[in-house]
Amino acid sequence: MTGNRILITGGSGFIGSNLARKLIHKGYKVRILDNMSPQIHGEDYQKSELYRSIKDIAEIVIGTVCDRQTWINAIKDIDVIVHLAAETGTGQSMYEIEQYTKVNITGTSLLLDILTNEKHSVKKIVIASSRAIYGEGKYHCSEHGDVYPTARLDEDMQVGHFNVKCPICNKDAELMATDEASKIHPTSVYGVTKKTQEELCMLVGRSINIPVVVFRYQNVYGPGQSLKNPYTGILSIFSTRIKNENDINIFEDGKESRDFVFIDDVVDATILGIEKDEANFLCFNVGTGEATDVLTVANTLIEKIGKHVKLHISGNYRLGDIRDNYADLSLIKNKLGFEPKVNFAEGIGGFVDWVESQEIEEDKYEVSIAEMQKKGLYK
Ligand SMILES: NC(=O)c1ccc[n+]([C@@H]2O[C@H](COP(=O)([O-])OP(=O)(O)OC[C@H]3O[C@@H](n4cnc5c(N)ncnc54)[C@H](O)[C@@H]3O)[C@@H](O)[C@H]2O)c1
Ligand SMILES: [Zn+2]
Repeated sequence: MTGNRILITGGSGFIGSNLARKLIHKGYKVRILDNMSPQIHGEDYQKSELYRSIKDIAEIVIGTVCDRQTWINAIKDIDVIVHLAAETGTGQSMYEIEQYTKVNITGTSLLLDILTNEKHSVKKIVIASSRAIYGEGKYHCSEHGDVYPTARLDEDMQVGHFNVKCPICNKDAELMATDEASKIHPTSVYGVTKKTQEELCMLVGRSINIPVVVFRYQNVYGPGQSLKNPYTGILSIFSTRIKNENDINIFEDGKESRDFVFIDDVVDATILGIEKDEANFLCFNVGTGEATDVLTVANTLIEKIGKHVKLHISGNYRLGDIRDNYADLSLIKNKLGFEPKVNFAEGIGGFVDWVESQEIEEDKYEVSIAEMQKKGLYK
Protein backbone atom coordinates (compact mmCIF):
# COMPACT_ATOMS: atom_id res chain seq x y z
CA MET A 1 0.00 0.00 0.00
CA THR A 2 1.43 3.31 -1.05
CA GLY A 3 -0.95 5.74 0.71
CA ASN A 4 -4.45 6.91 0.00
CA ARG A 5 -4.05 10.37 -1.52
CA ILE A 6 -4.46 10.11 -5.28
CA LEU A 7 -4.07 12.73 -8.00
CA ILE A 8 -5.94 11.92 -11.21
CA THR A 9 -4.96 14.15 -14.11
CA GLY A 10 -7.75 14.29 -16.69
CA GLY A 11 -9.94 13.18 -13.81
CA SER A 12 -13.02 14.94 -15.17
CA GLY A 13 -12.85 12.86 -18.35
CA PHE A 14 -14.51 9.58 -19.17
CA ILE A 15 -12.07 7.14 -17.58
CA GLY A 16 -10.90 9.58 -14.90
CA SER A 17 -14.34 10.45 -13.51
CA ASN A 18 -15.35 6.79 -13.33
CA LEU A 19 -12.05 5.95 -11.64
CA ALA A 20 -12.43 8.86 -9.20
CA ARG A 21 -15.89 7.75 -8.10
CA LYS A 22 -14.78 4.19 -7.46
CA LEU A 23 -11.64 5.23 -5.59
CA ILE A 24 -13.60 7.63 -3.38
CA HIS A 25 -16.08 4.85 -2.70
CA LYS A 26 -13.16 2.69 -1.59
CA GLY A 27 -11.99 5.35 0.87
CA TYR A 28 -9.27 7.10 -1.13
CA LYS A 29 -8.88 10.89 -1.13
CA VAL A 30 -8.94 12.10 -4.71
CA ARG A 31 -7.68 15.33 -6.22
CA ILE A 32 -8.31 16.01 -9.91
CA LEU A 33 -6.23 18.14 -12.25
CA ASP A 34 -8.12 18.89 -15.45
CA ASN A 35 -8.28 21.84 -17.86
CA MET A 36 -11.94 21.07 -18.68
CA SER A 37 -11.18 20.98 -22.41
CA PRO A 38 -14.18 22.33 -24.39
CA GLN A 39 -13.82 19.50 -26.93
CA ILE A 40 -14.82 17.09 -24.14
CA HIS A 41 -16.88 19.20 -21.76
CA GLY A 42 -18.49 21.82 -24.03
CA GLU A 43 -18.03 25.58 -23.83
CA ASP A 44 -19.47 25.80 -20.29
CA TYR A 45 -17.92 23.04 -18.23
CA GLN A 46 -20.22 23.80 -15.29
CA LYS A 47 -22.87 22.06 -17.37
CA SER A 48 -20.70 19.04 -18.18
CA GLU A 49 -22.25 15.92 -16.73
CA LEU A 50 -18.82 14.37 -16.21
CA TYR A 51 -17.70 17.37 -14.18
CA ARG A 52 -20.91 17.47 -12.18
CA SER A 53 -20.50 13.80 -11.32
CA ILE A 54 -17.30 14.47 -9.36
CA LYS A 55 -17.28 18.14 -8.39
CA ASP A 56 -18.76 17.61 -4.92
CA ILE A 57 -16.79 14.51 -3.99
CA ALA A 58 -13.27 15.25 -5.21
CA GLU A 59 -10.95 18.23 -4.84
CA ILE A 60 -10.70 19.84 -8.25
CA VAL A 61 -7.81 21.87 -9.59
CA ILE A 62 -8.54 23.46 -12.92
CA GLY A 63 -5.40 23.86 -14.97
CA THR A 64 -3.23 22.38 -17.65
CA VAL A 65 -0.54 19.71 -17.45
CA CYS A 66 1.49 22.00 -19.71
CA ASP A 67 2.21 24.38 -16.79
CA ARG A 68 4.95 23.64 -14.28
CA GLN A 69 3.51 25.55 -11.32
CA THR A 70 0.12 23.89 -11.86
CA TRP A 71 1.80 20.49 -11.55
CA ILE A 72 3.69 21.57 -8.42
CA ASN A 73 0.46 22.67 -6.75
CA ALA A 74 -1.42 19.57 -7.89
CA ILE A 75 1.06 16.99 -6.55
CA LYS A 76 1.34 18.53 -3.07
CA ASP A 77 0.85 15.77 -0.43
CA ILE A 78 -0.06 13.19 -3.11
CA ASP A 79 0.92 9.50 -2.80
CA VAL A 80 -0.06 8.16 -6.24
CA ILE A 81 -0.47 9.99 -9.55
CA VAL A 82 -2.76 8.48 -12.16
CA HIS A 83 -1.86 10.44 -15.28
CA LEU A 84 -4.76 10.34 -17.75
CA ALA A 85 -4.85 13.91 -19.09
CA ALA A 86 -4.14 13.80 -22.80
CA GLU A 87 -5.18 14.71 -26.29
CA THR A 88 -6.79 11.45 -27.42
CA GLY A 89 -7.92 11.55 -31.08
CA THR A 90 -5.95 9.32 -33.45
CA GLY A 91 -7.20 11.06 -36.61
CA GLN A 92 -6.94 14.56 -35.16
CA SER A 93 -3.37 13.84 -34.03
CA MET A 94 -2.30 13.53 -37.66
CA TYR A 95 -2.67 17.29 -38.20
CA GLU A 96 -2.68 18.82 -34.67
CA ILE A 97 0.86 17.58 -34.24
CA GLU A 98 2.25 20.34 -32.05
CA GLN A 99 -0.74 20.27 -29.69
CA TYR A 100 -0.59 16.47 -29.27
CA THR A 101 3.14 16.53 -28.66
CA LYS A 102 2.92 19.43 -26.24
CA VAL A 103 0.19 17.94 -24.02
CA ASN A 104 1.09 14.26 -24.18
CA ILE A 105 4.90 14.42 -24.20
CA THR A 106 5.96 17.81 -22.85
CA GLY A 107 3.17 17.74 -20.24
CA THR A 108 4.45 14.40 -18.94
CA SER A 109 8.08 15.53 -19.06
CA LEU A 110 7.23 18.47 -16.79
CA LEU A 111 5.91 16.08 -14.16
CA LEU A 112 9.03 13.91 -14.40
CA ASP A 113 11.27 16.96 -14.20
CA ILE A 114 9.52 18.11 -11.02
CA LEU A 115 9.66 14.66 -9.41
CA THR A 116 13.40 14.51 -10.17
CA ASN A 117 14.33 17.99 -9.03
CA GLU A 118 11.96 18.99 -6.24
CA LYS A 119 10.79 17.66 -2.90
CA HIS A 120 7.56 15.67 -3.09
CA SER A 121 5.60 12.81 -1.52
CA VAL A 122 4.81 10.79 -4.68
CA LYS A 123 5.33 7.02 -4.36
CA LYS A 124 3.90 5.68 -7.60
CA ILE A 125 2.86 6.81 -11.09
CA VAL A 126 0.19 5.04 -13.14
CA ILE A 127 -0.12 6.12 -16.76
CA ALA A 128 -2.66 5.58 -19.51
CA SER A 129 -1.12 4.29 -22.68
CA SER A 130 -2.97 2.83 -25.63
CA ARG A 131 -3.15 -0.08 -28.01
CA ALA A 132 -2.27 2.60 -30.60
CA ILE A 133 1.41 2.05 -29.77
CA TYR A 134 1.31 -1.40 -31.42
CA GLY A 135 0.26 -0.06 -34.81
CA GLU A 136 -1.20 -3.01 -36.66
CA GLY A 137 -0.29 -5.42 -33.85
CA LYS A 138 0.55 -9.07 -34.18
CA TYR A 139 -0.23 -11.19 -37.27
CA HIS A 140 0.63 -14.68 -38.45
CA CYS A 141 1.81 -15.67 -41.90
CA SER A 142 1.53 -19.35 -42.89
CA GLU A 143 5.03 -19.15 -44.32
CA HIS A 144 6.81 -16.62 -42.09
CA GLY A 145 5.28 -17.19 -38.66
CA ASP A 146 4.49 -14.23 -36.38
CA VAL A 147 4.92 -10.93 -38.19
CA TYR A 148 4.40 -7.25 -37.39
CA PRO A 149 3.09 -5.52 -40.51
CA THR A 150 3.73 -1.82 -40.98
CA ALA A 151 1.01 0.74 -41.81
CA ARG A 152 -1.12 -0.17 -44.81
CA LEU A 153 -0.26 1.62 -48.03
CA ASP A 154 -2.41 4.37 -49.48
CA GLU A 155 -2.21 2.77 -52.93
CA ASP A 156 -3.62 -0.55 -51.62
CA MET A 157 -6.48 1.11 -49.75
CA GLN A 158 -7.37 3.28 -52.75
CA VAL A 159 -8.29 0.11 -54.63
CA GLY A 160 -10.17 -1.42 -51.70
CA HIS A 161 -7.45 -3.74 -50.40
CA PHE A 162 -7.79 -3.19 -46.68
CA ASN A 163 -6.46 -6.48 -45.34
CA VAL A 164 -3.15 -6.50 -43.57
CA LYS A 165 -0.35 -8.25 -45.42
CA CYS A 166 2.72 -10.17 -44.37
CA PRO A 167 5.61 -7.66 -44.61
CA ILE A 168 7.87 -10.36 -46.10
CA CYS A 169 5.76 -12.14 -48.76
CA ASN A 170 2.86 -9.65 -49.09
CA LYS A 171 0.21 -12.40 -48.71
CA ASP A 172 -2.82 -11.74 -46.46
CA ALA A 173 -1.81 -12.40 -42.84
CA GLU A 174 -3.97 -13.72 -40.00
CA LEU A 175 -4.79 -11.50 -37.02
CA MET A 176 -3.44 -12.66 -33.65
CA ALA A 177 -3.95 -11.36 -30.11
CA THR A 178 -1.35 -8.66 -29.45
CA ASP A 179 0.73 -9.28 -26.31
CA GLU A 180 2.90 -6.75 -24.51
CA ALA A 181 6.09 -8.11 -26.07
CA SER A 182 4.73 -7.39 -29.55
CA LYS A 183 6.56 -4.88 -31.69
CA ILE A 184 5.89 -1.26 -30.75
CA HIS A 185 5.50 0.73 -33.96
CA PRO A 186 2.65 3.22 -33.90
CA THR A 187 1.01 4.40 -37.13
CA SER A 188 -0.33 7.70 -35.74
CA VAL A 189 1.10 10.78 -34.05
CA TYR A 190 -1.12 9.95 -31.07
CA GLY A 191 0.50 6.50 -30.88
CA VAL A 192 3.97 8.04 -31.03
CA THR A 193 3.13 10.37 -28.14
CA LYS A 194 1.85 7.46 -26.03
CA LYS A 195 4.93 5.36 -26.80
CA THR A 196 7.21 8.24 -25.84
CA GLN A 197 5.22 8.91 -22.68
CA GLU A 198 5.68 5.26 -21.63
CA GLU A 199 9.40 5.34 -22.33
CA LEU A 200 9.98 8.61 -20.48
CA CYS A 201 8.04 7.48 -17.41
CA MET A 202 9.68 4.05 -17.23
CA LEU A 203 13.17 5.45 -17.66
CA VAL A 204 12.87 8.36 -15.23
CA GLY A 205 10.80 6.28 -12.77
CA ARG A 206 13.70 3.82 -12.54
CA SER A 207 16.27 6.58 -12.17
CA ILE A 208 14.44 8.23 -9.25
CA ASN A 209 13.11 4.94 -7.86
CA ILE A 210 9.42 5.71 -8.18
CA PRO A 211 7.48 2.70 -9.52
CA VAL A 212 5.63 3.28 -12.78
CA VAL A 213 2.71 1.18 -14.01
CA VAL A 214 1.56 1.47 -17.63
CA PHE A 215 -1.86 0.44 -18.88
CA ARG A 216 -2.35 0.02 -22.62
CA TYR A 217 -6.10 0.41 -22.90
CA GLN A 218 -7.97 -0.98 -25.88
CA ASN A 219 -11.13 0.90 -27.02
CA VAL A 220 -12.89 1.92 -23.83
CA TYR A 221 -16.64 2.54 -23.86
CA GLY A 222 -19.54 2.94 -21.47
CA PRO A 223 -21.67 5.49 -19.65
CA GLY A 224 -19.92 8.84 -19.36
CA GLN A 225 -18.10 8.62 -22.68
CA SER A 226 -18.09 12.06 -24.32
CA LEU A 227 -20.88 12.32 -26.88
CA LYS A 228 -19.66 15.82 -27.74
CA ASN A 229 -16.24 14.89 -29.05
CA PRO A 230 -16.48 14.01 -32.76
CA TYR A 231 -12.83 12.95 -32.90
CA THR A 232 -12.84 9.85 -30.71
CA GLY A 233 -14.83 6.77 -29.94
CA ILE A 234 -16.88 5.18 -32.72
CA LEU A 235 -19.57 4.14 -30.27
CA SER A 236 -20.32 7.73 -29.33
CA ILE A 237 -19.91 8.99 -32.90
CA PHE A 238 -22.34 6.36 -34.23
CA SER A 239 -24.80 6.87 -31.35
CA THR A 240 -24.92 10.62 -31.90
CA ARG A 241 -25.57 10.07 -35.61
CA ILE A 242 -28.28 7.49 -34.97
CA LYS A 243 -30.04 9.72 -32.43
CA ASN A 244 -29.95 12.57 -34.98
CA GLU A 245 -31.29 10.10 -37.59
CA ASN A 246 -28.27 10.70 -39.79
CA ASP A 247 -27.05 7.84 -41.98
CA ILE A 248 -23.72 6.28 -41.11
CA ASN A 249 -20.75 6.16 -43.42
CA ILE A 250 -18.85 2.96 -42.65
CA PHE A 251 -15.15 3.24 -43.41
CA GLU A 252 -13.27 0.61 -45.40
CA ASP A 253 -15.45 -2.50 -45.79
CA GLY A 254 -16.81 -2.52 -42.23
CA LYS A 255 -14.77 -5.57 -41.30
CA GLU A 256 -12.13 -3.58 -39.42
CA SER A 257 -12.31 -4.53 -35.76
CA ARG A 258 -11.42 -3.38 -32.27
CA ASP A 259 -11.38 -4.81 -28.77
CA PHE A 260 -14.12 -2.87 -26.94
CA VAL A 261 -13.59 -2.89 -23.20
CA PHE A 262 -16.22 -1.71 -20.75
CA ILE A 263 -15.37 1.21 -18.48
CA ASP A 264 -15.91 -0.72 -15.21
CA ASP A 265 -13.30 -3.28 -16.24
CA VAL A 266 -10.85 -0.49 -17.11
CA VAL A 267 -11.40 1.12 -13.71
CA ASP A 268 -10.87 -2.20 -11.92
CA ALA A 269 -7.65 -2.92 -13.84
CA THR A 270 -6.33 0.57 -13.07
CA ILE A 271 -7.05 0.16 -9.35
CA LEU A 272 -5.12 -3.14 -9.34
CA GLY A 273 -2.20 -1.14 -10.73
CA ILE A 274 -2.50 1.44 -7.95
CA GLU A 275 -2.73 -1.15 -5.20
CA LYS A 276 -0.46 -4.04 -6.24
CA ASP A 277 3.32 -3.90 -6.00
CA GLU A 278 3.42 -6.78 -8.53
CA ALA A 279 2.41 -4.20 -11.15
CA ASN A 280 5.46 -1.99 -10.62
CA PHE A 281 7.52 -1.19 -13.71
CA LEU A 282 5.32 -3.30 -15.97
CA CYS A 283 3.12 -2.50 -18.98
CA PHE A 284 -0.26 -4.24 -19.19
CA ASN A 285 -2.83 -4.64 -21.93
CA VAL A 286 -6.38 -3.91 -20.80
CA GLY A 287 -9.14 -5.26 -23.05
CA THR A 288 -11.60 -8.12 -23.33
CA GLY A 289 -9.45 -10.32 -25.56
CA GLU A 290 -12.19 -10.31 -28.24
CA ALA A 291 -12.42 -8.41 -31.52
CA THR A 292 -15.73 -6.92 -32.74
CA ASP A 293 -16.02 -5.48 -36.24
CA VAL A 294 -17.38 -2.03 -37.05
CA LEU A 295 -20.42 -3.32 -38.97
CA THR A 296 -21.49 -5.36 -35.96
CA VAL A 297 -21.07 -2.27 -33.77
CA ALA A 298 -23.21 -0.11 -36.08
CA ASN A 299 -25.95 -2.72 -36.53
CA THR A 300 -26.13 -3.43 -32.79
CA LEU A 301 -26.46 0.28 -31.97
CA ILE A 302 -29.16 0.85 -34.62
CA GLU A 303 -31.13 -2.10 -33.33
CA LYS A 304 -30.85 -1.06 -29.70
CA ILE A 305 -31.55 2.66 -30.25
CA GLY A 306 -34.34 1.73 -32.68
CA LYS A 307 -34.14 4.44 -35.36
CA HIS A 308 -34.17 4.06 -39.15
CA VAL A 309 -30.65 4.85 -40.18
CA LYS A 310 -28.91 3.55 -43.29
CA LEU A 311 -25.36 2.27 -43.41
CA HIS A 312 -23.17 3.18 -46.38
CA ILE A 313 -20.16 0.96 -46.70
CA SER A 314 -18.09 3.55 -48.45
CA GLY A 315 -14.55 2.31 -48.80
CA ASN A 316 -13.43 5.65 -47.33
CA TYR A 317 -10.49 5.46 -44.98
CA ARG A 318 -8.36 7.58 -42.70
CA LEU A 319 -4.58 7.53 -42.83
CA GLY A 320 -3.23 6.50 -39.42
CA ASP A 321 -6.08 4.08 -38.68
CA ILE A 322 -5.20 0.47 -38.08
CA ARG A 323 -7.20 -2.44 -39.46
CA ASP A 324 -7.69 -4.66 -36.41
CA ASN A 325 -6.42 -5.15 -32.91
CA TYR A 326 -7.31 -7.18 -29.86
CA ALA A 327 -5.47 -7.78 -26.65
CA ASP A 328 -3.69 -10.80 -25.28
CA LEU A 329 -4.52 -10.58 -21.56
CA SER A 330 -2.21 -13.29 -20.19
CA LEU A 331 0.12 -10.88 -18.39
CA ILE A 332 -2.52 -8.89 -16.52
CA LYS A 333 -4.39 -12.11 -15.66
CA ASN A 334 -1.27 -13.78 -14.29
CA LYS A 335 0.34 -10.84 -12.51
CA LEU A 336 -2.67 -8.91 -11.22
CA GLY A 337 -5.49 -11.47 -11.32
CA PHE A 338 -7.50 -9.26 -13.70
CA GLU A 339 -10.42 -10.82 -15.55
CA PRO A 340 -12.78 -8.67 -17.68
CA LYS A 341 -16.34 -9.07 -16.42
CA VAL A 342 -18.37 -7.42 -19.19
CA ASN A 343 -18.39 -8.67 -22.80
CA PHE A 344 -19.50 -6.54 -25.76
CA ALA A 345 -23.07 -7.87 -25.88
CA GLU A 346 -23.61 -6.99 -22.19
CA GLY A 347 -21.73 -3.71 -22.15
CA ILE A 348 -23.43 -2.24 -25.20
CA GLY A 349 -26.80 -2.51 -23.42
CA GLY A 350 -25.53 -0.39 -20.52
CA PHE A 351 -23.99 2.10 -22.94
CA VAL A 352 -27.22 2.52 -24.96
CA ASP A 353 -29.34 2.94 -21.81
CA TRP A 354 -27.06 5.78 -20.85
CA VAL A 355 -27.08 7.33 -24.37
CA GLU A 356 -30.89 7.28 -24.27
CA SER A 357 -30.87 9.26 -21.02
CA GLN A 358 -28.74 12.03 -22.58
CA GLU A 359 -29.84 15.09 -24.51
CA ILE A 360 -29.21 14.77 -28.23
CA GLU A 361 -25.83 16.33 -28.97
CA GLU A 362 -25.29 18.39 -32.07
CA ASP A 363 -23.66 16.11 -34.64
CA LYS A 364 -20.27 17.71 -35.40
CA TYR A 365 -18.91 14.60 -37.05
CA GLU A 366 -19.02 15.92 -40.61
CA VAL A 367 -16.99 18.96 -39.58
CA SER A 368 -14.29 16.67 -38.16
CA ILE A 369 -14.23 14.62 -41.38
CA ALA A 370 -14.04 17.78 -43.52
CA GLU A 371 -11.00 18.85 -41.48
CA MET A 372 -9.23 15.58 -42.25
CA GLN A 373 -10.23 15.71 -45.91
CA LYS A 374 -8.76 19.18 -46.26
CA LYS A 375 -5.41 17.88 -45.01
CA GLY A 376 -5.47 14.89 -47.38
CA LEU A 377 -5.79 12.41 -44.50
CA TYR A 378 -9.28 11.17 -45.34
CA LYS A 379 -9.95 9.47 -48.65
N1 LIG B 1 -11.06 6.05 -24.07
C1 LIG B 1 -10.28 5.20 -24.71
O1 LIG B 1 -10.75 4.38 -25.49
C2 LIG B 1 -8.79 5.18 -24.45
C3 LIG B 1 -8.03 4.17 -25.06
C4 LIG B 1 -6.66 4.14 -24.84
C5 LIG B 1 -6.07 5.10 -24.04
N2 LIG B 1 -6.83 6.08 -23.48
C6 LIG B 1 -6.15 7.09 -22.65
O2 LIG B 1 -6.79 7.20 -21.39
C7 LIG B 1 -6.71 8.54 -20.93
C8 LIG B 1 -8.10 9.03 -20.58
O3 LIG B 1 -8.92 8.96 -21.72
P1 LIG B 1 -10.48 9.31 -21.71
O4 LIG B 1 -11.15 8.41 -22.66
O5 LIG B 1 -10.95 9.40 -20.31
O6 LIG B 1 -10.42 10.75 -22.39
P2 LIG B 1 -11.31 12.06 -22.09
O7 LIG B 1 -11.05 12.96 -23.24
O8 LIG B 1 -12.69 11.70 -21.72
O9 LIG B 1 -10.60 12.66 -20.79
C9 LIG B 1 -9.39 13.36 -20.84
C10 LIG B 1 -9.49 14.48 -19.83
O10 LIG B 1 -8.24 15.18 -19.86
C11 LIG B 1 -8.51 16.56 -19.84
N3 LIG B 1 -7.40 17.26 -20.49
C12 LIG B 1 -7.12 17.33 -21.82
N4 LIG B 1 -6.03 18.09 -22.02
C13 LIG B 1 -5.60 18.49 -20.79
C14 LIG B 1 -4.54 19.30 -20.34
N5 LIG B 1 -3.68 19.88 -21.20
N6 LIG B 1 -4.39 19.52 -18.99
C15 LIG B 1 -5.26 18.97 -18.12
N7 LIG B 1 -6.31 18.18 -18.50
C16 LIG B 1 -6.46 17.96 -19.82
C17 LIG B 1 -9.82 16.74 -20.57
O11 LIG B 1 -10.50 17.95 -20.18
C18 LIG B 1 -10.59 15.49 -20.14
O12 LIG B 1 -11.36 15.74 -18.98
C19 LIG B 1 -6.02 9.32 -22.03
O13 LIG B 1 -4.66 9.43 -21.70
C20 LIG B 1 -6.19 8.47 -23.25
O14 LIG B 1 -5.15 8.69 -24.18
C21 LIG B 1 -8.18 6.14 -23.65
ZN1 LIG C 1 4.75 -14.20 -45.27
